[in-house]
Amino acid sequence: MNKFFYITTPIYYINGVPHIGHAYTTIAADCLARNKRQRGFDVYFLTGTDEHGQKVLKAAQDKGLSPIEFADDIIPRFKDTWKKLFITYDDFIRTTEARHIETVQYFLQTLYEKGDLYLGEYVGLYCVPCEVFWTDKQVENNLCPDCKRPVERIKESNYFFKISAYQDWLLKYINDNPEFVRPESRRNEVLGFLQENKLNDLCVSRPKSRLSWGIPLPFSPEHVTYVWFDALINYLSALGFPAKKDKFEKFWPVCIHLIGKDILRQHAVLWPIMLRAVGIDPPALVFAHGWWQVGEEKMSKSLGNVVNPLDVIDEFGIDVFRYFLLREVPFGFDGVFSKAALVKRFNGDLANDLGNLVYRTLTMAEKYFEGRVPELDKASLDEIGRVKILPKIDAIEAKVDEALDRFDFIAALDAIWDLIGAANKYIEETKPWNLKKENKNKELENFIALLIAGIRVVAKEIAPFMPQTSEKINSQIKTDRVEKASPLFPRIDVD
Ligand code: ME8
Ligand code: MG
Repeated sequence: MNKFFYITTPIYYINGVPHIGHAYTTIAADCLARNKRQRGFDVYFLTGTDEHGQKVLKAAQDKGLSPIEFADDIIPRFKDTWKKLFITYDDFIRTTEARHIETVQYFLQTLYEKGDLYLGEYVGLYCVPCEVFWTDKQVENNLCPDCKRPVERIKESNYFFKISAYQDWLLKYINDNPEFVRPESRRNEVLGFLQENKLNDLCVSRPKSRLSWGIPLPFSPEHVTYVWFDALINYLSALGFPAKKDKFEKFWPVCIHLIGKDILRQHAVLWPIMLRAVGIDPPALVFAHGWWQVGEEKMSKSLGNVVNPLDVIDEFGIDVFRYFLLREVPFGFDGVFSKAALVKRFNGDLANDLGNLVYRTLTMAEKYFEGRVPELDKASLDEIGRVKILPKIDAIEAKVDEALDRFDFIAALDAIWDLIGAANKYIEETKPWNLKKENKNKELENFIALLIAGIRVVAKEIAPFMPQTSEKINSQIKTDRVEKASPLFPRIDVD
């Protein structure tokens, strides 16, 4: 039986270039996709860009471009960054593509015919740069609660989506499906929100006269679609829904949405209601991870402290960046990005532990056996090999898979580093130079063979995290020969 795995990142706004926050979600999704592919799953990994709305229009105007020219210019920046980070997405969706626009219009038309969209008058305090309407209660001194710039009172005729009609259904759905929103703290946040608030119907259109850059409503061309209503549908338009059935039948509803905690409500409240309204099951799971900041500060363009992933990988390498993001902070928690912390991981986990193990083992294989990989004879292993090393080699794959199925990247890496640590200790305790002196050739062969077997499973299990390192190790260990190269992670001097 085929096992299917559909994983998505948010589609990112294109009014800036990708930073480490975007890289984080994308690398996490890539790691899970790679692990699932190793396990024989049929994987669909989707990322993309969110290209409509006020902010993009404004950014384009500032550059003297039309919005689509602006988008076409910036998309290669995203694709190039993902390529440099070894991201293996299967599909990249842009909300300006015809395939997406068709699906959005299908949603709108279906809801309209069903009576879930109705024309009403919208009056509200509007923040132009944020593209957000606020209530009188939320606004103090006529300033946007988010960006603190002045809001404007706007009155316009718009279409509303009857989300209030689905509140009870959603509350019950989330109560009945404990795995739908992860981690638990975020699930409780959504449940609390739904229990304490009455959902208001959502204004899902904008008059074209005020905002031209959006998807026209099929039944009212003077209106365009609200960006969030447009954007969420990408997860289905990428599958070809509703025109094509094959991908939709395989990958829905097993879908997993990885997102940051900033957009939890859109994914855990609005999106399942939109799906319900057109008669589609909610996705299997929404995981909202935590927030990276730099030093004491939130990353922001105005503070000028936005970290560009390309700068980090130029300085330290791709794999250390991927490793750091997934190892440093439990998935779901907030984290602080710093070069000092990254260098510490580099010198410790990567140079001292992993790099050293590979280098020492291959050095011994070359020195004692001219690079030949000796045969492993499990029946005559010494005690440490039998009790401490072999069981870890045998268990590692199941441990990594189980941890990644729970989005616990740290537990997966701990299982791998547990073997690396034990193997390094094995070298220290066995003192192979003594075996050599005492002419214990059979013991020495078995010792090296076991270490190489350990390194092989490490190379396999780290591949989803550090694909380049995995390949480098594999290229140094052939079936029956080793060819040692320079150390994988030459220590970084800190002063
Ligand atoms: O919200 N720490 O796009 P966006 C961790 N277009 N993750 C971060 C982060 C940080 N400091 N900054 C950004 C949008 N992210 C919409 C999404 S989806 C249908 C539409 C990541 O460009 C995180 O995944 O603002 C967050 O949810 C996402 O980028 C927001 O990207
Ligand atoms: Mg955002």
